[in-house]
Amino acid sequence: MLKSPIMLLWAGFSPFILSVMAMFHLPGQTKFYSGKVRDVYTIDKKWLVMVASDRISAFDVILPKPIPFKGQVLNQIAAYMLEATSDICPNWLLDVPAPNVSIGKNCNPFKIEMVVRGNLTGHAWRTYSSGKRVLCGVNMAEDMKENDYFATPIITPSTKAVQGHDEDISAAEIIAKGLATSKEWDILSEYTLQLFERGKDIAAQRGLILVDTKYEFGKIGDTIYLMDEIHTPDSSRYFYADGFDERQVKGERQKQLSKEFVREWLIANNFMGKEGQTVPEMNDEWVNTISHRYIELYEKVIGKKFKPGTLSQEETSDRIITSLDKIKKEEKS
Ligand SMILES: Nc1ncnc2c1ncn2[C@@H]1O[C@H](COP(=O)(O)OP(=O)(O)O)[C@@H](O)[C@H]1O
Ligand SMILES: [Mg+2]
Repeated sequence: MLKSPIMLLWAGFSPFILSVMAMFHLPGQTKFYSGKVRDVYTIDKKWLVMVASDRISAFDVILPKPIPFKGQVLNQIAAYMLEATSDICPNWLLDVPAPNVSIGKNCNPFKIEMVVRGNLTGHAWRTYSSGKRVLCGVNMAEDMKENDYFATPIITPSTKAVQGHDEDISAAEIIAKGLATSKEWDILSEYTLQLFERGKDIAAQRGLILVDTKYEFGKIGDTIYLMDEIHTPDSSRYFYADGFDERQVKGERQKQLSKEFVREWLIANNFMGKEGQTVPEMNDEWVNTISHRYIELYEKVIGKKFKPGTLSQEETSDRIITSLDKIKKEEKS
């Protein structure tokens, strides 16, 4: 039943070429895609089995070492958040049969990412500090400092590039290019703002600020579904709320609880995913630090102790197959 374990082939130049072989062989499997972080199995064209790996990506490049428990952290935060937002819009998730596995509906993706920002941080700040005051067709006020709140959250979409880096795009361009109709855009942006508000509420209850995040949507027939992972440390930035205002006033750095610290470490070591740059060496201590940060984030966001998964690959495979059987039966009845 099981194929050989993950095979990582990566060349000594940057960006790494990484090919991953399917870890499972599932009945009805019609396609296998290995994303930067997740392995995606399509079943009978209708369902997806998404296996969150421990791979970590930054600047659209997969780093050379896996981060223990990262896949489980991501998968479980996403599942929690999809459940906690299911009254806002339909989402793809049907079952979480194992700590690092989600099964759900296969959607026809919009080729855009709905990025939404509460604060002037990261890419928005880099754009702003370069002198620009318009991002993705959205105006940004004068005299803002890094990490300041926008008057209201702004949507700054990006293209979902098949290869290479995602690029900023405006609502007008999205509609002009037919990536979404204007009616669909209205729905997508309404969902995005509502989801973000909910995400911020959940974060606030745990003493965190959800700074920015991105959502992906797709369609089944005419229905728009929220898909992919949401509000995870890979797709979002979180700050500690405690002391945020004081730090802003004093112009101090904010306390991050997200993947940003990995990006900062890479930048400090002269890597921004550009051609010719090489990923700095990751020693075991650093890998452990990242792993702990992910677990810390899980516990903070979910408000529960993290329980490391102990399922073997074989057990995981069995659980997936049982879950798929159930899903298929329910569909028939
Ligand atoms: N319900 C869904 N239907 C179709 N595609 C999905 C769904 N949920 C997530 N995806 C896609 O599956 C992939 C998840 O793998 P990921 O590791 O995030 O890959 P990527 O490198 O493409 O971001 C993404 O391309 C995402 O758009
Ligand atoms: Mg992704």
